[in-house]
Parts: sequence; C-alpha cells; structure tokens
Amino acid sequence: MRRYAKRLAQKVAKLSNEQVESLLDMVLEENETLDAVMESLSTGLLICDKSGNLLLTNKTAERLLPFNATRVSIAEQRGQTTPVWNIIADSDISAFLRSVYDKPRNQTSEEFTLETAGGSVRIIVVTALPLVQKKRVVGTLIQIEDVTDARNQQTLLRRMESLASLTNLAASVAHEIKNPLGAISIHIQLIQKALKKARAGDGMLPDRKFVENYLDVVNEEIDRLNKIIVDFLFAVRPIQAKLEPVNPNEIINSLMEFMKPEFDKAKVELKLELLDKPPNLMLDVALFKQVIINLAQNAVAAMKNGGILGINTQIKNDHFILSVADTGEGMDEQTCSRIFEPYFTTKANGTGLGLTMVYKIIKESAGEIDVRSFPGEGTIFTISLPVPQKERRSIEYDGELKN
Ligand SMILES: Nc1ncnc2c1ncn2[C@@H]1O[C@H](COP(=O)(O)OP(=O)(O)OP(=O)(O)O)[C@@H](O)[C@H]1O
Ligand SMILES: [Mg+2]
Repeated sequence: MRRYAKRLAQKVAKLSNEQVESLLDMVLEENETLDAVMESLSTGLLICDKSGNLLLTNKTAERLLPFNATRVSIAEQRGQTTPVWNIIADSDISAFLRSVYDKPRNQTSEEFTLETAGGSVRIIVVTALPLVQKKRVVGTLIQIEDVTDARNQQTLLRRMESLASLTNLAASVAHEIKNPLGAISIHIQLIQKALKKARAGDGMLPDRKFVENYLDVVNEEIDRLNKIIVDFLFAVRPIQAKLEPVNPNEIINSLMEFMKPEFDKAKVELKLELLDKPPNLMLDVALFKQVIINLAQNAVAAMKNGGILGINTQIKNDHFILSVADTGEGMDEQTCSRIFEPYFTTKANGTGLGLTMVYKIIKESAGEIDVRSFPGEGTIFTISLPVPQKERRSIEYDGELKN
C-alpha cells in the first residue's frame, strides 16, 4: 500500500479529486498506524531534526524523561525551535544530548540515574542514533530505556551467589579451625599458669611434663591448622583438566587391579560389569583415576564387615554411565544431601574433601554425578559423561552394546 501511495503521489497532477482524496486517506491511515506503533513501544523515542529541535516523541519517552516544569505539554514543543536539551530537566542528560550534536558520532549511549518524584531511583539508558533518509543524516533518533529492573535483578543475583558461596566457604573454614585454635589457646593458658606458679615458688622452671608436653600439643595443633588450610586451598583451587580421548575400561581395569589388596583386606568382593567395547571418552586420566579411587575407598569404608563393590558401565542416550555401588551402611537423607560439601565427613580421620574433588572433576569433564542411598542396604553413585560426537556413530554401528 505504501508503494502504491508513493506511485500515486508522483502522479498527483494527473489525479482526479476522488483519487487525491483516497490518496490522502491512505497517507492519514498510515500515519495513524505509525503513531499507534510509536505509542505502544516500551522504549521511549524522541525524534529531532538536524539542529536538535524535537519533532516527535512517544508516551514512554514522556514518562521516562524529566521535562522542564515550564513546559505545558510536550506536544506543544513539537515543531517549535527549541533544542531538545533545553526542555530536559536533568542537567546530565541535557549535557549528553548537547554533546551528541556538538560531536556527531554513529551511535552513542550513556547510562543515567534519575530520582523520581516518589524518591525511588531509576536507571535510564539514553542512546542517540543518526536518523538517515536517502543516505543523508536528517536528524537524530533518541532511544530511552529503563533498565532499573534488569540491573537490580542482576546485582541481586550476583550478590546472592557470591554471598552464598562466601558464607559457605567461610563457615566451613571457621568450623574447621575452631577446634585446633581452641586447643592451642587452652594449652598456652596452661603453660602460663605453670610458669606463674614456678615464679611464685622456688623460681625453678616448671616440671617438664607441664611445659614441654603442652608445647607439643600446641605444635601438633598448628600442624593441623596448616593441613586444614593446605587441604582447603587444594579443594577450592580451580582444576585444569587435560581432556584427551581415553578408553575408560583400561583405566578402571588397571585401577581395580591396583586396589585388589585393599579390597581383599576389607573382605570386599569386586563385581565388574564393563561394556565390551566402550567409546573413547574425553577425560583427564589422572583426575578420572582420582574419582574412581575416591568412590571405591568410600565404598570400602562403608562396608565395615565386607560386602560387594559393583562397578558397572553402560550407554544411555549418548551418555556413558558409570555406577559404583556398595552394600554398605548407606546414608540417611540429611547426610546424603551434604556429602559434596567441603569438609563434610562422618569419619574420625576423614578430610571430607574426597567427594568435593570428585564433584569438581566430573563437572570439569562436562558430566553429572548423582547419588542414591538406602540406610542399612548400600549406596550407589552414578556418573554420566557425554559420549563425544564422533564416537556416537560407532555405537550405533555396533548396535546394542553388551556388558
Ligand atoms: N559409599 C558411601 N556410603 C556411605 N557413606 C558415604 C559413602 N560415600 C561417602 N559417604 C559419606 O560422605 C562423607 C563425605 O565423603 P568424602 O569422600 O567427601 O570424605 P571422607 O571420605 O569422609 O574423607 P576422605 O575422603 O578425606 O577420606 C563420608 O564421611 C561419609 O559419611
Ligand atoms: Mg572419601
């Protein structure tokens, strides 16, 4: 219709009155459509001519921008020869708009903070673009966007995330160092007491058992503190996985051989059910070995009177699934929900970092890890790793892969 109207307009001299009328109708209708579009935009728009005079605005712009109090209606400003920066009440935005005209650029954008009459603060982004018609710059298009909600949401999320992880880390370190610090403090007080007593008496050094033994305890606790910090740094440092295509069977088989004496000693029977021809997986060999050793050792520890350790691999939906199951003591729901937390342990000599590492390594290898446990019956850890694209065809070709 636009093109048709344009063509008609070119021949206006030859048109009948009726045709001119219908042409006018068309133009008016088009204008109304454009107006409706302008008004329903959620972005504020100001259109100015080459000298900065306001030609057109929409409602959103009028809502978002502060206009001078002297202005009766923005509509009245339209067509008047007042540059736009003179009718904006905010001096920063006004200066920005003026600079756009002083130094014309392709696109320029700036963020402003505005205080509304109600006292709340809004964040507004003002963008100025050249308005081009027939390859000539005929004015400026100014876009106004309210980004307050989006910004607040982002800040809140970021703050919540960092707070949550900081609180977790701080809480776990604080908890861990509390005991050794307490022990150090008590033993130093005991030494002070012994020294004081000695000074009040014959001036001789207190008995060896009172001081040197206490100092030994202090030293031991300092060592413990040191280990906590070293372990902690080890657990939180980012791991750099060197991923390469590897045959998972080779790793599992050699590790199981290596751990056999440990299993025998704990009366643990190993049941291996591995895929005949597994796809090569993208793994870091050293890290993947750590995963299996950690899971197997946890399983053995959970089977105090012996039991069965089952290691099974299969393919499901382009994923390699490795499960490590034991017939040990199992865990209740509450324990289960905390096992990946750094320092969570129920063992007298555990660091509680084994599964934290496992989790990090699996994530680093683009995998997932899941656990199901039944108190008194056993636990099963399931790891899912993506099969690399080029390995997938061979799986289909082989048809069903048997254990
Ligand atoms: N197979 C399992 N059966 C029952 N409980 C388990 C099993 N695996 C882990 N857990 C529980 O999860 C806790 C955390 O395990 P994780 O490997 O992180 O640390 P840990 O084994 O206690 O210490 P470390 O690994 O340093 O020896 C364990 O203390 C135990 O309570
Ligand atoms: Mg462990």
